[in-house]
This record gives sequence, C-alpha cells and structure tokens, in this order.
Amino acid sequence: MSSMKRTLIVGNWKMHLNVQEASLLVRRLHQHIPTHRSVEVVLAPSMLCLQPVSMEIDRHKFRLSAQNAYHRDDGAFTGEVSFTMLRELVHYSIIGHSERRIYFGETLEIVRDKVSAAVRNGIAPIICVGDTAAERANHESKKVVHDQVVSALHGLTSQEIDDVVIAYEPIWAISTFGGEVARPEDMQAMLVYIRQVVADLFGKQAAEELRLLYGGSVNQDTAHSYLELPDCNGALVGSASLNYQQFANIVAAGYQANYEKQE
Ligand code: PGA
Repeated sequence: MSSMKRTLIVGNWKMHLNVQEASLLVRRLHQHIPTHRSVEVVLAPSMLCLQPVSMEIDRHKFRLSAQNAYHRDDGAFTGEVSFTMLRELVHYSIIGHSERRIYFGETLEIVRDKVSAAVRNGIAPIICVGDTAAERANHESKKVVHDQVVSALHGLTSQEIDDVVIAYEPIWAISTFGGEVARPEDMQAMLVYIRQVVADLFGKQAAEELRLLYGGSVNQDTAHSYLELPDCNGALVGSASLNYQQFANIVAAGYQANYEKQE
C-alpha cells in the first residue's frame, strides 16, 4: 500500500511573483508551516526566482522544483535553461504541465525527452498528465492518460522510475481552464488506473512505491477529500499556493490525511 509514504504537497507558482514578492511569500510560509516528518513541501517558483528563493528557504522545511527546463544539457539554445544548470538548485522539476502542452506545443516526444534529461541530471520529474473536457466527454480519458504516461516513461530503467512522481491533473479541473470540481471517487479511479499502467511497465512493486499526486483546483476546503484517497500521495497546487494561509492549510490537510492512513 501507499500509506506509509510521505505526502507530497507541491506549490506551482506559475508565472506569478517577482523576486521581492516571492521572498515575502517564502517568509510567510516559514511562519505558517511547521516541519512535518510525514509531509514533504515543495515550492516551484519561476525560473528567475529559483536562485534567490534557494538562499532564503529552510531546507529542512521546503524543497525546490523547477516548472520546466530544456532537454539538452548545454549549447546554442537562446533563451533556454537546462536541467544540468538546475541540478544543484532543485530536487524536482514539473514536466509536461498542461499549460506547457497547450500553450507551448509540448508533444509526447518533448515531454519524454525532458523526463529523461531530468533523470539524467538527478532531478526527480513531476510528470503532469490529464485529459481535456472534450476527451472526457468522448470517454477517451483513460486512453489519453495511458499514452501520456507510457510515452513519458519510455526508456527509463526500473531504478530510474523510483524518483518519478506523476500528477494527474484533469484539464477541466484546473482553475484557469474551467475549474470544475473533480469528484474524489473519480480521481481515485484514475489514480488506480495510472498505477496499473506503471505496474504493467515496471512491475507491481515499482507501481506501489510510485508517488501519485492529484492537481486541479485544490484549495483548503477540498484538499483533504483528495489527499485521503487511498492512491493519492499528494497534491499539485496552483492558485491556492500563492496564498500562504491556503497553502499552509493544504499542508495541514496533507499531514492529517497521512496520519489517518497510518492508523
Ligand atoms: P490550480 O492549478 O490549482 O490553480 O487549479 C493546478 C495546476 O495547474 O497545477
């Protein structure tokens, strides 16, 4: 079972907050989030803020994630930052977020290349997968998610899969794409399905150990209903992560849900 794993709460700040605003949010988060051994709290600031935030955070309390990076290690790629450049700075990188896929044309192949670049550089990928409202209406959700998972993990070894995190984020539930509140029982069914896909590829044990997150309009009121799901090991939080009280309450919900699962 997945119950003894640390709960992972990731705050995706997207393209919000300048360096000064990010620093203020970090100070507030310090004040309002206690250290919980059973909860891992990860902040994903913009690329610009990663370095200053890395010097301000208490590393016992917070880890850092990039939101994206380029799959080549270095070279003449104007405007890009590589996973190699981030390796001393972050533990994680979000990869294949739906906004990257939709606005920046990230294909299954690009996402796959980024996952392997992250892993090659010792950065744990948080791979985002999710279906659109139209795919859901056409009953294609499982197929779409299956293809996203299989292609993103293509070429990884059974050792490399250990560090991978997969976030199921139905696009229709993300606040900026519609923000429909997803029913927890439907999310549990999809998380079970993703675990099964990974079991088919890498075996039962790897699938059981895999950390699966839910993302899409998670806030302080809904967080517990997702975090208590048997196959949910954490949350990827967008807009609510910019509000320190909301985010602190989501972390507290993660602690509570983890405690309940261990009972
Ligand atoms: P949201 O975003 O929490 O604002 O819906 C989630 C995400 O895009 O990762």
